[in-house]
Amino acid sequence: MSSVKTAVFPVAGLGTRFLPATKSVAKEMLTIVDKPLIQYGAEEALEAGITKLVFIVGRTKNSIIDHFDKAYELENELQLRGKDKLLKVVQEVVPDGIDCVFIRQPEALGLGHAVLCAEAAVGDEPFAVILPDDLIHNEEESCVKQMVGVFDKYQASIIGTQTVDIEESHKYGMIAGPEVEPGLARVDEIVEKPSPAESPSDQAVVGRYILTPAIFEKLKKTERGAGGEIQLTDGIAALRTQEQVYGYSFKGKRYDCGSKLGYLQATVELALEHEELAGPFRDYLKQLDI
Ligand code: G1P
Repeated sequence: MSSVKTAVFPVAGLGTRFLPATKSVAKEMLTIVDKPLIQYGAEEALEAGITKLVFIVGRTKNSIIDHFDKAYELENELQLRGKDKLLKVVQEVVPDGIDCVFIRQPEALGLGHAVLCAEAAVGDEPFAVILPDDLIHNEEESCVKQMVGVFDKYQASIIGTQTVDIEESHKYGMIAGPEVEPGLARVDEIVEKPSPAESPSDQAVVGRYILTPAIFEKLKKTERGAGGEIQLTDGIAALRTQEQVYGYSFKGKRYDCGSKLGYLQATVELALEHEELAGPFRDYLKQLDI
């Protein structure tokens, strides 16, 4: 069994960048080819051996709860009609032995607050945090699985990182610190959404974290920061004064599906890898006069 058993999905955000689509549809339920974004995140967790999925939801996110609930009527109907392949697709959303927990974040007070809402469900154990807007694709080994491997070696919090254009620093948590092995840096500084001039480096935090439970005490004391929100980044900044935290430059491709362009890039590239669609979609793109 994996040393990290729980993954937390903070999915209470409003998704204003996708309005009007997200007026009534949770942004995490937007589809990339044939699966909602949130399911890509859940599959990444399951591949890493995680067995408990904790969703921190807001009031308009009931479709996420429905998606991870058992669909008795649908399964029954598919069974009666002999649609075994589709039945399997539906049943595999939550494989046997996987627990789903749904927690309401009463107010959208920020990512740090959302993670704190998971405290009772997580308990006194290390856990993963997955932001489903960041879709990370790696055919061989999922990002979270790679990070659990690093956690097992260092027994310390691990944050997923990526090099970005420094002009983009205001969109991310930014870290800096010395490399301790190729692709792994000790986090000596971490700042939420600094201006390019104030950014400590060009290493950005992406939406994958393995955190020790000591983060909860830090988050309880974290005051509102960037954007007036309780930031996970600020909680991690406090955590690293007490125990080491590492930034891990994961292997794989990240799509920023919180932006329209990233969402379209993920759609095109994953469609080109899809077992049924790859051929015809490639032919279609080739004949487009662009
Ligand atoms: C959040 C975090 C930020 C991180 C980013 C990754 O920001 O606060 O530190 O770099 O996710 O996607 P958000 O994109 O929710 O504003």
